[in-house]
Amino acid sequence: EKMNTPFDLIGEDKLNQLVEAFYYRVGQHPDLIPIFPNDLTETARKQKQFLTQYLGGPPLYTTEHGHPMLRARHMPFEITETRAKAWLSCMNEAMDEVELFGSIREDFYARLFLTAQHMVNTSENDM
Ligand code: HEM
Repeated sequence: EKMNTPFDLIGEDKLNQLVEAFYYRVGQHPDLIPIFPNDLTETARKQKQFLTQYLGGPPLYTTEHGHPMLRARHMPFEITETRAKAWLSCMNEAMDEVELFGSIREDFYARLFLTAQHMVNTSENDM
């Protein structure tokens, strides 16, 4: 018997809406604008692929781009604690906007919180 993954529970449509709502905010956030491209279309496309597999759906990111190696892929960007907080606040607001509530949201957000901490590669003192 197949288990329901978080991806199944959230659904592809809602996950895609979440990523759109998220990058809309990223593109307006003063702490994040300096490190993101102006056009976030391709970034959002990759993030949809990544989050699909992160939530137990098909491995769309790995099929196209190989092993995620997320920390390594973030090394070209100065990611401070402040930027991790900004990233998470955009995600939290996006979750509100698409009305992702309940334990599925809490579990997803808790994982993202840990992953975001792992991406921090620059001390505020170095900025
Ligand atoms: C790519 C910033 C956390 C997943 C990127 C890019 C930036 C960035 C600047 C490059 C965008 C581009 O050139 O298209 C940040 C910051 C974070 C953060 C400031 C705060 C901690 C995360 C987290 C995840 C994640 C928590 C996953 C849960 C990705 C993915 C990509 C990406 C999948 C695309 C990688 C690729 O080019 O193939 N991020 N990120 N990021 N980020 Fe993050």
